[in-house]
Amino acid sequence: MAETIRVMIPEEEVDAKIAELGKKISEDYAGKQVHLICILKGSVFFTCELAKRITVPVSLDFMSVSSYGDGTSSSGIVKIAKDLDESLEGKDVIVIEDIIDSGRTLYYLMEVLGKRQPNSLKLCTLLDKPDRRVRDVKVDYVGFEIPDEFVVGYGLDYAQKYRNLPYIGIVEGLE
Ligand code: IMP
Ligand code: MG
Repeated sequence: MAETIRVMIPEEEVDAKIAELGKKISEDYAGKQVHLICILKGSVFFTCELAKRITVPVSLDFMSVSSYGDGTSSSGIVKIAKDLDESLEGKDVIVIEDIIDSGRTLYYLMEVLGKRQPNSLKLCTLLDKPDRRVRDVKVDYVGFEIPDEFVVGYGLDYAQKYRNLPYIGIVEGLE
């Protein structure tokens, strides 16, 4: 059977949710500047759309991490493949993630970033799979809580494919 994608969250719903998150963040950070950290590659699409909806001044930085695992789950040993360009000192930082699964990657990352003297450090994720959590990570902004299914689209990939889909879908027909 060939791979097909079943829509889980349609484009309009994702867009509406991102607008809602942008509004909330703009209210919470009124009078401040917010420094968004995009975790490559998965959160690129979400970060761009969210940043466009935030009305307080925004600065952006990028980080790439890889977590050694067996393909379907991460080990918790995280390698920083590309670090941030700028210091976090005194900044109001929000880490932007595509999905939080076991929580291992973000648990490690929030520890590392917390040591860089930001004024504040929060976490925003488009998707959350709470049933899969093995590390306790505090998530400040969540788009959608989803069941334990492997999803693609809006930045999320399966073997580097489907990141460009404008909706969240489930891959069916995997061997
Ligand atoms: P964690 O350390 O288990 O929380 O790993 C989170 C990372 O695993 C995410 O940033 C994704 O790169 C990847 N991931 C987890 N679940 C999915 C999924 O359903 N689809 C695509 N990637 C996923
Ligand atoms: Mg990721």
